Amino acid sequence: MYVCICNAVSESDVHTCVSAGAESIRQVKNACGWKPGCGSCTARLAEAIGRARASAGAQPSAA
Ligand code: FES
Repeated sequence: MYVCICNAVSESDVHTCVSAGAESIRQVKNACGWKPGCGSCTARLAEAIGRARASAGAQPSAA
């Protein structure tokens, strides 16, 4: 499932970036090569980061 349609970033991509050490929305965007787009995906991205961190055994971060 796509988290960001404008950048074709999937939930799996977010999990990969979080597994590689990205923690914040900014870090995940940088790691995934995010380009400015419509911006409608911020909430979906935050949720995907939370799921990725939870599945990795980390506590969800508000950062
Ligand atoms: S859906 Fe992510 S920038 Fe548009």
